Amino acid sequence: MATTPERLPVPWEQCAGEILYRLAHGGVLCTVIDQAGRPNVLTLGWGLFGPSYHGHPICVIAITPLRYSWRFIEEVPEFVLAIPDDSLAPAVDLCGTRSGREMDKFAASGLTPVPSLHVRPPSILQCPLNVECRVYTRVQPPHFLLTPEHRQRPVGEQHTIYFAEVLGLYRWAR
Ligand SMILES: Cc1cc2nc3c(=O)[nH]c(=O)nc-3n(C[C@H](O)[C@H](O)[C@H](O)COP(=O)(O)O)c2cc1C
Repeated sequence: MATTPERLPVPWEQCAGEILYRLAHGGVLCTVIDQAGRPNVLTLGWGLFGPSYHGHPICVIAITPLRYSWRFIEEVPEFVLAIPDDSLAPAVDLCGTRSGREMDKFAASGLTPVPSLHVRPPSILQCPLNVECRVYTRVQPPHFLLTPEHRQRPVGEQHTIYFAEVLGLYRWAR
């Protein structure tokens, strides 16, 4: 992995709008890692982000077992939401349409993984904001958390919902 520039912590309420905006407009990147230490990255559009009654804000994502990344987050229940800007649209598109089964998506998209501070999956150097998350509970289908269309699929293809505490939110000092 590349060397890491200095990080500036960001209060969650100052970047919640940016995270939700990017989720709704093209998607955000999400890094995961497996037990062997191999990272992968995919694009996510379903997500929740907000305050919680305990110390950390919460972040909720949904990943179906159809994704290569699903086994990774099941093995290591941590992830980083790497929030892109407009310049990263081609990389976000690639990570949301191609699978880590067939390629190294970091190399293919030009995204640079760098070590995170609190979790094992990497942060992404080119993303202006990285959100380090640790899963504290997961909800498996059947559930009523997604749309009726999702619920019509076979249960084994429906999304697992991951509730995570946000351990760190950082921008790069540059
Ligand atoms: C804009 C966008 C949003 C997406 N949101 C999700 C999502 O919330 N959950 C999910 O499981 N897949 C989502 N996907 C699909 C995955 O990103 C895609 O299937 C990806 O190729 C999976 O990579 P992997 O096989 O390496 O895990 C989304 C794709 C795009 C383009």
